[in-house]
Amino acid sequence: MQTVHTIAELRAQVAVWKRAGERVAFVPTMGNLHRGHIHLVERARAWASRIVASIFVNPLQFGPHEDFAAYPRTLAEDSRQLAAVGLDLLFAPGVAEVYPRPLEAMTQVTVPELPAVLCGASRPTHFLGVTTVVTKLFNMAQPDVAVFGEKDWQQLVIIRRMAADLDMPVEIVGVPTVREADGLAMSSRNGYLSPEQRAVAPTLYATLQALAERWRSGERDDLRLEEAGKAQLAAAGFRPDYLEIRRADNLQRPAPEEATADLRIFAAAWLGRARLMDNLPLAFSADA
Ligand code: PAF
Repeated sequence: MQTVHTIAELRAQVAVWKRAGERVAFVPTMGNLHRGHIHLVERARAWASRIVASIFVNPLQFGPHEDFAAYPRTLAEDSRQLAAVGLDLLFAPGVAEVYPRPLEAMTQVTVPELPAVLCGASRPTHFLGVTTVVTKLFNMAQPDVAVFGEKDWQQLVIIRRMAADLDMPVEIVGVPTVREADGLAMSSRNGYLSPEQRAVAPTLYATLQALAERWRSGERDDLRLEEAGKAQLAAAGFRPDYLEIRRADNLQRPAPEEATADLRIFAAAWLGRARLMDNLPLAFSADA
């Protein structure tokens, strides 16, 4: 596995592959990798002969009081895992390579509406940071396909919209959430949990599963289900941020006549200093 730190080196290698007619898949990450990330790299093989991953803790997507400084930087261990899974190239730029001027003086990319709900309601600048950095990373790596985890479903929907609206020549692929044996969605922030909190954390998935089951059994009062879910989380020791049923494609609240449309149930909740997120389809198939 090759590791590069500059845009010029990344572009030079990708250009060689493209001239040879190879397809390039891209897996953007912020590092501190877990099996969910490694699974994205493995899945990327289905779409391309060369896989590029990036590790960049993007300051622009963290709010002023969020965990940017504390976010674990584990490049040596991450590199070992990526090499073991056969990654072709790791791009690990420093902040000055990505943002050579002060953040507030850099051009930013905004997707309207979609970032205002769910996670964006409590993290108002988060998706602006995500769409800006992902645009820049796409321009740097020029991939044919980019792979994102479905755990951050809202991020996936926003990036799909951005790529479509800006005619980006990249296919956006979502990969189902990878879970621990007890159902907890894999996340870099699970590392913030104490052993006691870790024991409680799977309640988030169990709560969403129970609500999805009630939906499948015919309950259609979305507001009532949401209140029941939040009460269950609070009783288990979480501080719920949101728990909402929304359309999978555009994140709108379902109109009554859309009750059988493609819906998902989304939740984020604090457990100690970890903000955990998860989402499930309300369709009749079991969640992956
Ligand atoms: O999902 C993430 O890890 C980040 O939001 C991403 C897509 C790498 C952009 O910084």
